[in-house]
Amino acid sequence: MQHVCVVGLNWGDEGKGKIVDVLARDVDAVVRFQGGANAGHTVYIEDVRHVLHHIPTGILHGGIQAVLGNGMVIEPTKLIEEVETLPEDAISRIWISERAHVVLPHHGAVERINEQQASKPIGTTLRGIGPAYQDKFGRRGIRMGDIVQPGFVDDVLEDRLRERCRALGVPEQSAAEGVQICKRLREHLGSQVTDTSRLLRQMDANGQRLLFEGAQGCMLDIDFGTYPFVTSSSPSFLGLGTGTGFSPRKIDHVVGVTKAYCTRVGEGPFPSELAGEVADALREAGGEFGTTTGRPRRVGWLDIPALRFATELNDLDSYALTKADVLTGRDTIPVVTGYRRNGTLLESLPFSAMELDGLEPVVEQWPGWQTVDEVSMRPFIERLESATGIPVSILSTGKRRSEVCIFSPFRAEGELA
Ligand code: IMP
Repeated sequence: MQHVCVVGLNWGDEGKGKIVDVLARDVDAVVRFQGGANAGHTVYIEDVRHVLHHIPTGILHGGIQAVLGNGMVIEPTKLIEEVETLPEDAISRIWISERAHVVLPHHGAVERINEQQASKPIGTTLRGIGPAYQDKFGRRGIRMGDIVQPGFVDDVLEDRLRERCRALGVPEQSAAEGVQICKRLREHLGSQVTDTSRLLRQMDANGQRLLFEGAQGCMLDIDFGTYPFVTSSSPSFLGLGTGTGFSPRKIDHVVGVTKAYCTRVGEGPFPSELAGEVADALREAGGEFGTTTGRPRRVGWLDIPALRFATELNDLDSYALTKADVLTGRDTIPVVTGYRRNGTLLESLPFSAMELDGLEPVVEQWPGWQTVDEVSMRPFIERLESATGIPVSILSTGKRRSEVCIFSPFRAEGELA
């Protein structure tokens, strides 16, 4: 198996950071294809917590290259801060697509205004992600490659940014700040900006292994998620091609990451959502507070219709099941297997946010586990596999890197043992 892709199947925060870290042991490069500093990927190497927002967690293994693909929107100050938390040699292993777009202060400023003034705010991370993608698709964005062009930052950028600030109605001082930020970026990371699409093709031709990661989750996909309560990019496997310039036909295995329950941050439909003390207990047990914003996450049971939808959309080969440890000690695990609307049973996910609101979940009790290990969890895993037709290849049993069970095909090939 040469190339693998890891995607989130829920509303983000599935624990992709840890799964990427586990799978990264035997690859040559880890590649991110969309999103920006809205993501927060956490890895515990024993008890030390590492949080990365742009750079794939695979960088924490020595010797691995980390690629930030063209589908990303990059916030320079955050990226520089992130690089500073890494070992000194890491910078020379980070490659940033010249085609990735830059998130600048006017993006955050206009997003704060939009969210404050909206009758139905999205509950975004306020990192300027949506406005940066709007500039990209409006064909007026600033790209990483522009910043390293001689003369662009010094001679052209401020006028371009002032024009945007005026059009958006945000203070023009954001333009001057943007210029300073781009200068710092050029100084710190300019040498790492390159044609990453070409780099990936060369690595493929040399027989090197690539691990792709989507940020957020499928239910937040701009096209296929619970629109309009979604992010502004394509976290599903389908985003890999346009987000990297690497052919999706070359991917050998797609792993979808799902928690054993669900969470969501921000507004929008969440059919299996819990309330009251049950929700509080689950949130506390799972430490469900946003990595990027610190917001308490909404919690709910595993939602099989939503999971089936994500499984089909991503054409998955296997699941990575995470946070099983949080549910240890229960005789049974509640799982949502369908919904009812006015007494009618629905077994698939309705299309629109309006239709998704106010569904009554149908809850089944699946076998629980008293200790979190492969044997005790087998009945639950088998139930999940038969409900979806997809095998579990990775089981995460705790937050540390070492707390993981790896099944076929990763274990069978001796790649990760
Ligand atoms: P944005 O990506 O900041 O525009 O936020 C849009 C929606 O996606 C909001 O509901 C956010 O809470 C959610 N979101 C964005 N990034 C993440 C993430 O990494 N984890 C979970 N939710 C996210």
